[in-house]
Formats: sequence, structure tokens, C-alpha cells
Amino acid sequence: MGNQSTLTSMITLSMPEPDIAVLTLDDPDKGANVLSRSVLEELNEHLNELETKENLAGLVIRSGKSGTFIAGADIREFVSSIDSPKEEVQQFASLGQQLFSRLSSAPFVTVAAIDGLCLGGGAELAIWCDRRLMSNNPKAQFGFPEVKLGLFPGWGGTARTPRIVGLSNAVELITSGEPVDAAAARAMDLVSDVVESDRIDDAAIELIRAEQRSGQYKKDRERWSGTIEISETELGFLGATASAYITDKTKGHYPAPLAALEVMLGATGVDLTTACQMEVEGFTELFGSSINRSLINVFFLHDGNKKDPGVADPNVTPRSIRSVSVIGAGIMGQGIAGANVRRRLKVNISDASPEALDAGVTGILKEVSYDKTIKGPSPERAFKFAPLVNGTTSDAELGAADLVIEAIVENIEVKKSIFARLEPRLGPNTILASNTSTIPITKMAEGLEHPERFCGIHFFNPVRKMPLVEVIRGEKTSDETVATAVAYAKALGKSPVVVGDGPGFLVNRLLLPYMNEALELLMDGVELRAVEKAAKAFGMPMGPVTLYDVVGIDTALHAGRVMVEAFPDRMIPSELLIAMFKAGLYGQKSGGGFYLHTGKKGKPKPNPEAEKILAEHLRGKGDFTTQQITERMFLPMLVEATRVLEDGLVRDARDVDLGLIFGVGFPPFKGGLLFWADTLGAEKIIEMLKPYESLGKRYHPTEMLKEMAKTGSKFYDSGETS
Ligand code: NAI
Repeated sequence: MGNQSTLTSMITLSMPEPDIAVLTLDDPDKGANVLSRSVLEELNEHLNELETKENLAGLVIRSGKSGTFIAGADIREFVSSIDSPKEEVQQFASLGQQLFSRLSSAPFVTVAAIDGLCLGGGAELAIWCDRRLMSNNPKAQFGFPEVKLGLFPGWGGTARTPRIVGLSNAVELITSGEPVDAAAARAMDLVSDVVESDRIDDAAIELIRAEQRSGQYKKDRERWSGTIEISETELGFLGATASAYITDKTKGHYPAPLAALEVMLGATGVDLTTACQMEVEGFTELFGSSINRSLINVFFLHDGNKKDPGVADPNVTPRSIRSVSVIGAGIMGQGIAGANVRRRLKVNISDASPEALDAGVTGILKEVSYDKTIKGPSPERAFKFAPLVNGTTSDAELGAADLVIEAIVENIEVKKSIFARLEPRLGPNTILASNTSTIPITKMAEGLEHPERFCGIHFFNPVRKMPLVEVIRGEKTSDETVATAVAYAKALGKSPVVVGDGPGFLVNRLLLPYMNEALELLMDGVELRAVEKAAKAFGMPMGPVTLYDVVGIDTALHAGRVMVEAFPDRMIPSELLIAMFKAGLYGQKSGGGFYLHTGKKGKPKPNPEAEKILAEHLRGKGDFTTQQITERMFLPMLVEATRVLEDGLVRDARDVDLGLIFGVGFPPFKGGLLFWADTLGAEKIIEMLKPYESLGKRYHPTEMLKEMAKTGSKFYDSGETS
């Protein structure tokens, strides 16, 4: 036979030596290889053919794509079978296992040559091979991220991995979902060797020859098809520590890691075949669950965002941003500058106060040079980054950058005066942006000569941690400016959402009604603990009252005022918040807000001063159930989200969900606010609102909700499909 098979289009067979077969995966239609049904079918056909070949010493499986071995299973196919009956799901997993298991029973040695990302189903394919080699390509990673989709590996990953790398390593790999690099993979004997990228194909053939000589692979096949040797004590200890760790991490909201742990611990005393059956059963339980569906939605939100240029016109090209100036060296200015420096972008930074500028430059370098291993700034890193940070007061220097971001005090007059001063100094293509959290972009652009080159680029605090960036389009902002801001935010590793101009833009407009309601509940007599607990049980990363202390009572009050002025029909000024502000209880920044912030370790205690103020504002007995507390907080957020859609502030429900998940940590296991709302349906939501209608318009169904209830439509019906 010739060198190339004519059977396939995504997998190519070649024979570099007469007794060595190489299967190269390279899907011509995709940037990365993924395991779809058709790829698996092709692999099946190749194995049929190779198994009949005489005197074959070995098979190498490799990728033709640089940087990726196999990125995982085809998630779009997963989605198309998400409603399949359980038997079909079982069959799908079993067939995958049967196919891959042929890689460890073939009449020749099998080697996966991993020169790039090897994840999920790709990692399972590799784990069934007799041997794995990894290259030192920085992109080479090995991992099982299935738990991040609410699943665990179903093609033999949980059965085979512990037999190869040991139970403890396998538990960590599979329950965390975090990939390991080549060095870590080598350390746990997941791979036989780590070699240079350009040597991996030759090294795979040498490995096959060595295995044929020693016959070790046959002994390993035997060993790995049996039980796992581990004492009862060791097993008990591993189970207890791992489940405690997982429960702490998942807060009980994500069942997949614990289910994976259970199946791996439970299958130690059985042979590989039985372990595979147990895996299929467990996998089938998780597949199609509401959490699995929600997490798949989040995956698509993220994936869609990566590909979204932010503007509808495909002919718009973003300008390249090579240098940035940041005006204002406070909390946000430092954070924004740091995000640039981390991506090796040169930053000029300025401030009206020389002390603030000094402190800002030091703060930026301290943050970007932080080294986890020494738990502090590393002098070498600071030295490396220092040339990228230029503290300056020269308008000429500031204006010469490709992008100028303003992050000074939240005062329109002061901001406008800075723009008026700087605009004449800007280059002909320089984009000017504001990090304002409340001031309308269109208003700020009044008086600018080039309002088309002005927009909002709203980062979230702390910038280092928060992935969301709102790109705000003013009335006159051009498509090119929006597309450039979007591309720039992505280059910083952020997830940008384009939103229309309006009070609170997207995220704060939805967050503030929820936070405000928490204070209303306190005044209605609900205990602080109960409010916080209900929000966390819903899945929020922190309680809303804690969030007030983090954001700052003064900042929250200012933002709240903007909302009350804009929407007096439904936003209510909080008496309690005003009283807290008047008493100087600003939250973390002042050492005390609703809680005491003494700097000591442990949970902050409620602040007696705040309790006194609350007692003066108490107006009810707080006899509500947890469900009522939850509904009181989240329904106003949901109603406001329908208004955001009615106002056309964003394109569709996906933007709302992305904004809330990446901007405020709305629980991913709920798939997003509107994804979650779709699981309830508009009719049910209107029913849930009824008992609260007397509280005001924030609980009244909007026209959109009424229409949706009438037609039975869903938020996710419109827009791009996943
Ligand atoms: P900040 O008070 O920490 O820093 C502001 C800095 O601007 C100060 O160092 C001050 O000296 C400087 N400044 C004031 N007037 C100036 C002028 N005319 N020229 C040059 N520098 C001047 O404030 P922060 O928190 O960093 O906020 C900055 C902006 O970012 C505001 O518009 C705020 O609304 C927005 N923002 C704040 C967030 C937060 O959580 N703190 C989140 C997102 C946006």
C-alpha cells in the first residue's frame, strides 16, 4: 500500500518506516482538533485496517496542528444529544471506551505524541495508549476539564488514569479539571519522556523500538487492566481529605468533582472493565443535568465572546494598540496599567497629585511583580517590568499613545476639562476612553472635536481578578473605536461586552437593584446573616452586604443616586445607606462598614455601630422564608434585565449573562441570570412577582415578560444559537 490512506479526511495514515504506522489528526475545517463522531469513526476504520497488518511494531498518534494535540470532544455534538434518552448516552460513552481500549490491546505498541494542548476526550485517547510522550512546547498541556462542564470523563479517563499515575494524582487531575504541563506530567509518570518539539516524532519511534525489545508494555497492559493496590487506611484518608477539599471549593454547588471522586474510589477494587462500566453509569447521571446544561451555556458564552468582534460590520478592522496612557493613578488607574504591563504593553501614567503618581508607579510594579512562590514582589520581575511603566506629567507624552484611558475622580466637569486639555495633543488615530462607572459617555463626549474616537472602557475592581470589561458606545462613537476597544480588552485577556450608553451601563444597572434590596430586607427585620446566606446559597460569591463593604458605602451611594435619578419610578434611595454614609462607615476602606474590618484574619464580625443604625431604621419583624428572601433580591435584578433588553442596551440575553457572570460572579452553575430565568419560564416569573407587587414597580412584570408569557417564548430564543 502507498504512503497515504484515501479513507479519511481528518486523520491521515502514513508509514515512515515499514513497521511503523503514524496517524496524524488534522481537521482542515477547524483551528483545533476536536473529537467528533466522524473523527471517532475514522479512527475506528484506521484501527480496523491496522489491526490486520502483519508485523506492525507500533502506532504513533500525533496532531498536524501546531500547539494542539486534541482540544477535547466536540461540545456542539454534545449539545445536540443533550436530551437523548439515558440508554443512548450510555451507549455513546461505552462505544468511546471500546474504541479507545483497542489502543491498549492492539497487536503493536501505541504511543501518543503530544506536542500541544491535550484535553478532555483527547486526554482520554492518549491515556488509553501504551505510552505518551510530551514535548516541551509551552502550549503542551494535559488535562481533564470535564468537571468544568458539570461532567467527568466518560471514555475511560477515570478508570484508566488512576491505574497509570496512581489514585491520588488521578483524583487531583480529574476533580480539579486543571491541566498540567509537561514537567508535572513527567513527574507523575503520565508521560514517559519530555522531548523537543521537533524530536517528538523520532522519539516516539525510538520508544516503540525500546518497548518491543523490553516487552514492558505487555506487562503494563496486564497490570493496568486489574485492580488498584491501595490499603483501606490510605483509601479512607484520601477519600476524606479530597472530599473535604472539594466540598470547600464547590460549596456544594457543583456535583461533578465529588461524583468523579466517588467513582474513582469505588472502582479501586474492581478490574478495568468493571471500572469502565461504573464510569459510564456515573457519567450518564451527570450528562444533561441542569448544571451540565448551565455550564455548557457558560462555555458557549465564553467561546462566543472570544470570536465576537463587538461590531456587526465585518469590514471594520480594529486599530492596533501598542502603547497606552492612563490618567489617574488611584485604585483603578493602577489596576488598568498593571493589566497592560502584564501583557508587555508600554504604559504612561499620570496623576494630578505627585504623591499619588509616585505611589501609583510603585503600586503597579508591586502588583505585576508579585511572585506566588515567595508570596511577595520579586525584584527580578520588578526589574524586568520597570521599563514598561513611565510615570509622567507631560501631556505630549501622554497624548502620543495609541490609547488614552482616563481613571480620575468621578466628576464630569473634572473629566471634561482633562479631555479638553489632552485632545489637541492626541495623535490622529488615538482613541480616548473613560473608565467611568456612572457618567454617560455621550454627555462626556460633548465638546470633543472627535467624539467618534471616544468610548467607555469600564474595567471592574480589582482589575487583576475581574475578567469583564464593558465597552460603552456613546451616540457618536464609531464602529472602529468600538472594535479597537474590544480587541484591546481581549489582548489584555479580558472578556469585553459592548453595551449602549445609559445609567449604570449594564452590570451596575442590574447589580444595584439587587444590593439595594438586601438593605430593604435588613430594614424589614431580616437578620444580616440570613440575607448573606440566602445570596450565597443562590450561588453568589459573597453576600450583598459584604459587597457593600468591599465596594465602599460612599461609592455605592453615589452610584445608587445616579440610578434613582434616572429611574425614580422603580429605584428607591436607601435610608440605611445614607445613614451609614453620614456616620462615616464606608466599609473596608475606613475599617468599618456593615462589618468591622480590623485587618485580623478570619471572618469579619458585624459592626456594632452599624447594628445601632440599623436598629433605628427597623420597620418589620423579618419573618420571611429563605425562598422569599432570595426572590426579593433576585427578582428586581431580573425585571431590570428585561428593561435592559427592551431598551436595546445590549444585543441579546447572552450579553446580559456574560456581563453578570464575568462582572459580578453570578453563579455559573445557573448558566446566567436569563438562562436561569428560561428554566423557570416567563409565566412562572410573573407568578413569582405577584406577592411582591405592592412593594413597587421593581416587582411589576414588564411588557417583555408579559409578551413572553403569552407566546411561551424564551430569552435564549433570539440571537445567535449555540
Ligand atoms: P481613586 O480615588 O482611587 O483615584 C483617582 C485618582 O485620580 C487619584 O489618585 C487622584 O489624585 C487622581 N486625580 C483626580 N483628579 C485628577 C486630575 N484632574 N488629573 C489627574 N489626576 C487626577 O479612584 P478610583 O477608584 O481609581 O476611580 C477612578 C475612576 O474609575 C472613577 O471614574 C470611578 O468611577 C471609576 N471606577 C471605579 C471603580 C472602583 O471600584 N473603584 C470600578 C470601576 C470604575
